[in-house]
Amino acid sequence: MRPKRPTAVPASLPGNSVFLVGFMGAGKSSVGHALGQRLHWIFEDLDDRIAAREGRTVAEIFRDSGESEFRRAEHAALQHVLQELQGGGARIVALGGGAFVQRENVALLKASSVPTVFLDAPVEELWQRCCTQASETGAERPLLRGMEQFRKLYETRRRSYSKASLKIQTGGRPVETIVAEIAKTLGLKEIAIRTEQGEVE
Ligand code: S3P
Repeated sequence: MRPKRPTAVPASLPGNSVFLVGFMGAGKSSVGHALGQRLHWIFEDLDDRIAAREGRTVAEIFRDSGESEFRRAEHAALQHVLQELQGGGARIVALGGGAFVQRENVALLKASSVPTVFLDAPVEELWQRCCTQASETGAERPLLRGMEQFRKLYETRRRSYSKASLKIQTGGRPVETIVAEIAKTLGLKEIAIRTEQGEVE
C-alpha cells in the first residue's frame, strides 16, 4: 500500500524556493531578507503570514488562544504558502523557531521537496541576539522566558533541525557571508531585473 500524503499539498515544487529553519535568534529573517535582495527573490516570514491570516500578532495568539492554536495556524499558513508556490515564482521563506519541529510540517516540506536550510549558532549567541532584539526593537517572543528554559528548548529541538537539507553556522559571521554560502551551495540563481530602459541588471 502506498503511504498517504500527509496533507493536501501536491508533490515536488519547481526548484524556486528555500525555507530557512532554526531556533529563535538564528538569523532566519535577516539572512532571508538579504538572500532575497541578492537574488531578487521575494522574501517572507511565515510568522507575518500567520499574523495577517489570523488578524492578530503571534504574541496575541499565544496569549489569548495558547500555543496549540498557534501551531494549528502555523501549519495552515505553511500549507498555504506551499500551495501558492505551485504556481511558480521564486521565494525565500523564514519559518518560526518551532515550525520545523512539528512532524506534520516536516512531512509537508519533505513531500514538496523544497530545500530547507538550518541556521545554527552557539546557544549563548542565540540568547544574546534575542535579548538585544527585545531591547532594541521590542520584539515579543512568547517562548523567550529565561536562559535555562531557552537552552533546554534549544537542545530538545536541535535533532529536528538537523533533518534540514543543509546546515549553516551563523555564529560570529556577517550576514553577507552566510547568504553567499547558501546561494553557492544550493546553486541559487539570481533573477534578472529589467530597468525602464530595458537593460538587464
Ligand atoms: C517560536 C518562534 C517564533 C514564533 C513563535 C514560536 C518557537 O519565531 O514563531 O513565537 O516556537 O520557537 P522566531 O524563531 O522567528 O523567533
